[in-house]
Amino acid sequence: MKREYSAGAYIFRRSGSSFKLLMLKRLREGSYDLPKGHIEDGETEEQAAKREIMEEVGLRVDLMPSFRDVANYEYYRDGRKVRKTVVYFIAEVSKPNVRVSEEHSGYLWCDLDDALRHVYYKNFFPHVKRAFEYVKRAAEMRALNGEYEKLPSKTKGWDLSKRFVPGEGPLDAGMMIVGQAPGANEDEQRRPFVGRSGQLLTKVLGEAGIGRKGVYICSVVQFFPPKNRMPSKTEVDLCRGFLARQMGIVKPKVVVLLGNLAGQEVLGIGEVKSNHGRIIVRDGVKYALTLHPAAVLRFPVLHKLMAGDLKSLMKQISK
Ligand code: URA
Repeated sequence: MKREYSAGAYIFRRSGSSFKLLMLKRLREGSYDLPKGHIEDGETEEQAAKREIMEEVGLRVDLMPSFRDVANYEYYRDGRKVRKTVVYFIAEVSKPNVRVSEEHSGYLWCDLDDALRHVYYKNFFPHVKRAFEYVKRAAEMRALNGEYEKLPSKTKGWDLSKRFVPGEGPLDAGMMIVGQAPGANEDEQRRPFVGRSGQLLTKVLGEAGIGRKGVYICSVVQFFPPKNRMPSKTEVDLCRGFLARQMGIVKPKVVVLLGNLAGQEVLGIGEVKSNHGRIIVRDGVKYALTLHPAAVLRFPVLHKLMAGDLKSLMKQISK
């Protein structure tokens, strides 16, 4: 069977409080489609998607980080079955005007119902629904991060770094990981878990079969405490609502709590040493307690223990 590998994007535009999706009318078939096309030799999926968007609708776009949707389908060309894989990204644009290529005769900005009416392959419905839900979550997270990063300028006597480190990962991840607070490397790069603790975390996740790119990672406090000290009660109090709101946006099914502070904040269990490996279900969400990777860096014998916690969590959730 012939195989094709393409890349494209859901391109959204805000319309009032909701979003509209760009759909292109194909000149020959008259059906509607998203901007997409073959991935050329030597191109990454992202490069191909951006090039296709430029060629098909004349837009230079940034792709949203962490979203990647894979659709597989089959169709017949010249009597031969073709198995096609298309990787879709999401981009958001502000202007409604689009210049379509000569392969298209027009375009539509569709709300979800319109988009589903125009989708040709019915098994693509869940993909389109996911994209609409995702772009909404992205807007909510942007607003939340905008508020969160203003905390230092609004708080008297602020003693943490003023550089906000946002959470990272798919906004519809099934798993969320909560750490304590960023370290110096995270402060520098404004990304969570990119220092030594982060490298260890990525390794231990991998050992348990968890790909880091598929999880949403954040911390109880998302500003670096000087000299890596423990955040104070006041600082934790100030950040509390933001962690809860991130959880409300991502809606994970599983939350992994790294270390005492995360355990205390989320479950009221601040003694991870004697509770590690426990899984507690609340409101249908599974909360798993394990060590913070910084503790494993300090005491490498604990590596096995942390990896064991994550492996048994994975066993439980795959049942
Ligand atoms: N440790 C944490 O708890 N959070 C980070 O973001 C990085 C290191």
